Amino acid sequence: MKIAFFSAKPYDKDFFNRHNTPYGFELQFWETHLGPHIVNAIDEGTEVVCVFVNDRLTAEVIGTMAAKQVKVIALRCAGFNNVDLEAAKKHGIRVCRVPAYSPEAVAEHAVAMLLTLNRKTHKAYNRVREQNFSLNGLLGFNLHGRTIGVIGTGKIGRAFCKIVLGFGCKVLAFDPFEDESLKASGVQYLPLEELLPQSDVISLHCPLTPENKYLINRETLAAMKPGVTIINTSRGALINTDEVITALKSAHVAYLGIDVYEQEEKLFFKDLSGSIIEDDKIQRLMSFPNVLVTGHQAFFTEDALAQIATVTLNSIHELIEGLAPQDPEVILV
Ligand code: NAI
Repeated sequence: MKIAFFSAKPYDKDFFNRHNTPYGFELQFWETHLGPHIVNAIDEGTEVVCVFVNDRLTAEVIGTMAAKQVKVIALRCAGFNNVDLEAAKKHGIRVCRVPAYSPEAVAEHAVAMLLTLNRKTHKAYNRVREQNFSLNGLLGFNLHGRTIGVIGTGKIGRAFCKIVLGFGCKVLAFDPFEDESLKASGVQYLPLEELLPQSDVISLHCPLTPENKYLINRETLAAMKPGVTIINTSRGALINTDEVITALKSAHVAYLGIDVYEQEEKLFFKDLSGSIIEDDKIQRLMSFPNVLVTGHQAFFTEDALAQIATVTLNSIHELIEGLAPQDPEVILV
């Protein structure tokens, strides 16, 4: 049984080959993303197509796949906004995903960004390599005793809350659904307008929806404490980039850590080191000494990649063999 992978990176090949032993599927890896330009190249006899966040599975692409007798689309990620599910349903193609792959990986990266910005370890690393052992400019603040505002306390937000509670922080949270176990641990739920002015650090852990696009905007930024630190490992468009740049220029926002960016599709997961980047907003953000940008790597741990590979291969096995899925959340169509 043949699976064609698109947007395949060396680490995808490594982890899927490693975890394929019990199944013995034939794996074919394409580096290019899937779209109308390449869909015709899928070999006849390919039963499964495995894709990632930037592959574009439009109705047209899915129609061509159906004509080639593709039976399953396996998303090796949680989000599925890039797949026309209606078209898949119409053509009888099953679609599965990986609903959760190590929430701790993302939560730990958010904490890593916070500690890097606060204790300036990125600067210290370079400075010491130049034999400069001066401490000027490296002053940080204790997290112990500070107030952390967590927006979204699902799987990742919950893991993040537990870590910062361990640091001795006061943790405030905003989520339409309150988590009783977090409340029992000392997390206090508040309306957003009360959380914003009280938090020294605000970390975003909610999904992007049409309702919360630009949740962080001129008004919500103005409601925050002067000197606030903002961390975003969720989705880029939760933050209005122009308006956060204005708040950084006035120093109202003291630190910003982002693993996601609203225009990231054109940039992230690619080596652009020899290219001219035309996106002036990301260049402006990267020019600030108090802004840390990482390229959507919060999920990127050995544990999470192993989970992605095992869940994806198991779901493919279940769908192809017509078995009932162990976890109904993996099946989209
Ligand atoms: P989840 O579905 O377990 O939890 C999301 C929580 O956000 C829910 O409790 C929900 O009630 C809450 N929520 C929804 N809208 C909200 C709003 N407007 N304000 C406050 N809370 C709101 O999701 P999970 O697994 O915790 O993931 C959260 C987000 O993290 C994902 O949607 C995704 O955008 C991002 N993510 C980022 C990764 C990375 O590598 N940077 C990897 C995986 C996920």
